[in-house]
Amino acid sequence: MPVSETKLLMKYADEPGYTPGIESYLAVGGYEMLKKAVGMKPEDIRGEVKASGLRGRGGAGFPCGVKWDLVDRKSGKPIYLICNCDESEPGTFKDRQLVHKDPHQLIEGMMISAFANDVKFAVIYIREEMPKGAKILDAAIDEARARGFVGSNICGTGFSCELIVHRGAGAYICGEETGLIESLEGKRAYPRIKPPYFPAVLGLYNCPTIVNNVETLCNVVHILRMGAAEYCKIGRPNNTGTRLWCVSGHVQRPGYYEVAGITMGQLLYDLCGGPLPGRSFKAIVPGGGSMKILRYDEKFKGKKPDGAAYEYGVDDIPLDFDGVAAAGSMSGSAGMMVMDDSVDILEALANLMQFYAHESCGQCTPCREGSQWARKITARMCSSNAKPGDLDTLYDMAGNIGGRTVCPMGFSTTWPVQSYIDKFRDEIEAKARDNRCGMPREARLIQK
Ligand SMILES: Cc1cc2nc3c(=O)[nH]c(=O)nc-3n(C[C@H](O)[C@H](O)[C@H](O)COP(=O)(O)O)c2cc1C
Ligand code: SF4
Repeated sequence: MPVSETKLLMKYADEPGYTPGIESYLAVGGYEMLKKAVGMKPEDIRGEVKASGLRGRGGAGFPCGVKWDLVDRKSGKPIYLICNCDESEPGTFKDRQLVHKDPHQLIEGMMISAFANDVKFAVIYIREEMPKGAKILDAAIDEARARGFVGSNICGTGFSCELIVHRGAGAYICGEETGLIESLEGKRAYPRIKPPYFPAVLGLYNCPTIVNNVETLCNVVHILRMGAAEYCKIGRPNNTGTRLWCVSGHVQRPGYYEVAGITMGQLLYDLCGGPLPGRSFKAIVPGGGSMKILRYDEKFKGKKPDGAAYEYGVDDIPLDFDGVAAAGSMSGSAGMMVMDDSVDILEALANLMQFYAHESCGQCTPCREGSQWARKITARMCSSNAKPGDLDTLYDMAGNIGGRTVCPMGFSTTWPVQSYIDKFRDEIEAKARDNRCGMPREARLIQK
């Protein structure tokens, strides 16, 4: 039987007549969990979030409750909460849905998280390219403040927390948490070196700071409503809750889908309708442009609970953090890009390299120079100007970027280069050799 979505965060947002206004949210029980939270002990809320196993939805999948535990509560400095709504990873467009369609869910999640962590000042950092979202959030915060859910004396309990929207500069690196913090402080978004700058200890203005993704914070409302034990029943152990997958590219029904406990094949076929007529799947980038590509005909080795080995394909990959990692990639920001047999894989890689070269903040040499070299080499390979050894140079260079930079963006360049070459070397080599581009030159996306 075809699978269906498991709607938790988007349960009401797509219903006819539901608006981003507070009346819609209140009508479906909105802010009841904030009222409940302010009557609880903060450590009990933190305990529920930890027990829920909620993993961060921004990309790395770090457990939210563990992150909250790391916050320095003894420094005497203010603790800040930042909602990361930069959403710049290629292929990812889920946070904007939550913001545009149900902003009060995010505000409630943030206010509960603020109360749980003794935060008096919280910020939603939104990228400049999301002006509609920023306006919706500003209006929603005003509505919430007028009802006593934001600002002074929240729900009449004496708890106060200010919440503002900050519009970012529209750079990919502003999504990296320490780059974001630098940007908020009014500086260029150069990521900080960790350690010592773990935001939980030395964050905004060198004060303890929690940075969480939009989807992560929305989940907090539901954890409190359901209780950690019920919440854990959604999904798989260590992969609890739903995830909003954004599917773009060559499927019949691209879009976002909120699911839990399904396989990649179920998403691709049951929900997205399979490949376009007459086409077949060639490759999947599971979690946003930075993640390693999977060949659609690839096979993986697994172990059953009784220890017996078995082989499985892309369609059987469990669609969650651990499932995608076991197949050699990562679910990242859940921005799945689907490529069918019409795609020229070298063009796709060159297009990505153009993006990462443009977005490198320039602070570290391997990333700044390496991403430019990757852009240039892939571009000239696409335009039939490849030099002998270009592919090996590209591969070797990628091996010298990741892990040698201040922030993980080094891997954003490295992983695509290495995995595209590992999985499609023959095709890339043949194209570079024979100029088998298959596309008219003027239709290419690559800047030469
Ligand atoms: C280059 C780069 C870009 C990132 N962009 C985003 C982003 O747009 N949104 C986001 O939530 N996290 C992004 N992250 C991850 C954040 O640094 C951080 O881990 C995340 O916001 C933490 O929230 P979470 O624990 O709720 O996932 C990015 C990381 C890197 C290295
Ligand atoms: S890895 Fe790249 S993006 Fe990250 S700090 Fe270094 S130069 Fe900037």
